[in-house]
Amino acid sequence: MSKSELTIAMPKGRIFEEAYALLQKAGFQLPDDLEDSRKLIVEVPNEKIRFILAKPMDVPVYVEHGVADIGIAGKDVLLEQKRSVHELLDLKISQCYIATAGLPNTMLNDIAPRVATKYPKIASDFYKEKGEQVEIIGLNGSIELAPMIGLADRIVDIVSTGRTLTENGLVEYEHIVDVTSRLIVNPVSYRLKSERIRDMVRRLKESME
Ligand code: PRP
Repeated sequence: MSKSELTIAMPKGRIFEEAYALLQKAGFQLPDDLEDSRKLIVEVPNEKIRFILAKPMDVPVYVEHGVADIGIAGKDVLLEQKRSVHELLDLKISQCYIATAGLPNTMLNDIAPRVATKYPKIASDFYKEKGEQVEIIGLNGSIELAPMIGLADRIVDIVSTGRTLTENGLVEYEHIVDVTSRLIVNPVSYRLKSERIRDMVRRLKESME
């Protein structure tokens, strides 16, 4: 029987490059010249693989709906969204963490504490756990602006190198959770294409050792 086509949802940007290199290292014959492409669907006929390039936050949506069989998603996105997908493998790439940060030597406002974030669920779970009532302000990016211009006392955001915080005069307060990229799968695809998917997981694991 010929092998079935596999659709993989990949995040655009820096995670894509790391994940793509990992697949190449695992022995998948993928073209080297994708960097400058603006294509959103990339076919690799010799491997029967099709990549769809999505915003990182949207990868689990494609996988949950089954239009992608598997996907590569950050643990941050998976914690935030709680989608019906299985997590198969920690790829240990794009390591970073989620933390609270703010202006130095400041406390949460006593009367109306505000926290800006693009992770409203992770942030509200964190402050609930601490027993602190805060108003969550949802933003889509450049979260570090919020404390600098008085929109919020704290942010909950990704820290990778820490440069964005430092260059904007902010400091970290609490470490919330470590983040790496994960291989996720649609449960139905996992049953129907189990051989192909297990083979990919096995090869990725071997190449990571
Ligand atoms: C992420 C994150 C921080 C920054 C952290 O933003 O939200 O702003 O990277 O990286 P660093 O610790 O290495 O400085 P991203 O680049 O995804 O853009 P965004 O502001 O649009 O979220």
